[in-house]
Amino acid sequence: MKPQFQPVRGTKDILPEESVIYNHIIALAREIASLYNYGEISTPIFEFTDIFKRSLGDTSDVVTKEMYSFETKGEDHVTLRPEFTAAIVRAFISNGLTQNLPQKFFSHGPIFRYERPEKGRYRQFNQLNFEFLGVASVIADIEVISMADHLLKSLGIRANAQLELNSLADKESREIYRNKLVEYFSKYEGELSEDSKNRLHKNPLRILDSKDENDKKLVHDAPILSDYYNDDSKRFFAKLQENLHLLGVSYHHNPRLVRGLDYYCHTAFEFTTTFFGDSKAILAGGRYDGLVSLMGGPETPAIGFASGIERLMALMNYQPSATPPIAIIAIGEVVENKAIALLNELRRANIPAEYIHGGGNLGKKIGKANKLAAKYAVIIGEEELKSGSFLVKNMETGTEEDISNCIAYFAFLA
Ligand code: HAM
Repeated sequence: MKPQFQPVRGTKDILPEESVIYNHIIALAREIASLYNYGEISTPIFEFTDIFKRSLGDTSDVVTKEMYSFETKGEDHVTLRPEFTAAIVRAFISNGLTQNLPQKFFSHGPIFRYERPEKGRYRQFNQLNFEFLGVASVIADIEVISMADHLLKSLGIRANAQLELNSLADKESREIYRNKLVEYFSKYEGELSEDSKNRLHKNPLRILDSKDENDKKLVHDAPILSDYYNDDSKRFFAKLQENLHLLGVSYHHNPRLVRGLDYYCHTAFEFTTTFFGDSKAILAGGRYDGLVSLMGGPETPAIGFASGIERLMALMNYQPSATPPIAIIAIGEVVENKAIALLNELRRANIPAEYIHGGGNLGKKIGKANKLAAKYAVIIGEEELKSGSFLVKNMETGTEEDISNCIAYFAFLA
């Protein structure tokens, strides 16, 4: 028996009909990027492992469980990118762009995470990614969230998602809160999951994001960060909320929203949907002021977001309006050369055309042309060979006409 190859678990082919939607999403994202003055950047799909290890956090799920890391033949330790942000920051620093601020980058492409696959969750998936570096003011946060809202509206799926918003405050507020959390969870240390025990002293905020049922019960009564915001953090968040109201961007303040990656401060947001069963984000991001300096660059405030393209595709109801091809039907071998020549001429005149392959009678070939959704079929038999004209059949009305110059005829119809 021949071996039957299956795709690797958690991976997915994007078939031609799906590619139409995929490309439509990229095209709209590009339009938005250009409206908001983002330049497109492509980085390699792998980086040195340290790039991600250092930036995403030692205790994050991505770093501890989900990275596709390997050693190359040259003994370099590299990782398939589990997100764009750290890679974009690396590119921002290594290309010497840090002195020319602000900088705005748009990217799209594959991302790799060894997660448990389920509906809407893959091990290789694609992201749209937007990063805005160099502006500390909340004006950048307002712009970025409003742009995300604009993007989802132009894709026609904003109504399917709820914007959840929180502030993770500044370092000072978080530090006080962190101590309160350690104090609280220490009382229940014996009841915490293994993961959460490990995180208790390294990064207790991570416990708030635990998927463990028992942890969740303990999280329910844990102290809340907003009770520890200092004045700056309060002001920052209030101005963001005020402006989202003014711009008509609806949101829900979720004081328990923490993001899965460690680099965030102040603004954190997720557009979530229940379309996939449980609540999943279709677009998420936040402010990450400490990341550039953590990665060896100068102190640079920044904010951005990413969106899973497969998740967007699943929500979209897109009817592409592609021009169907003209079906070229040759009846008998002797007319094939004439049919091939016409096919070639039509395509070179930018008129989509397709040859109806295979044997069978005219009826069968017309059936195949219908499958292509062709509006017209050009039928070429021995008679046409003699007369030098073509029989053009309107597939919708069934009417037929003798046409001598097909290119002019179809160019006129287009
Ligand atoms: P993230 O929340 O890890 O953030 O991922 C962003 C989006 O990628 C999610 O909201 C979701 O739509 C999609 N996504 C994540 N994991 C999967 C998966 N396994 N399968 C399918 N889709 C998935 C980041 O990646 C940050 N780098 C975002 C950011 C940019 N923050 C600042 N700048």
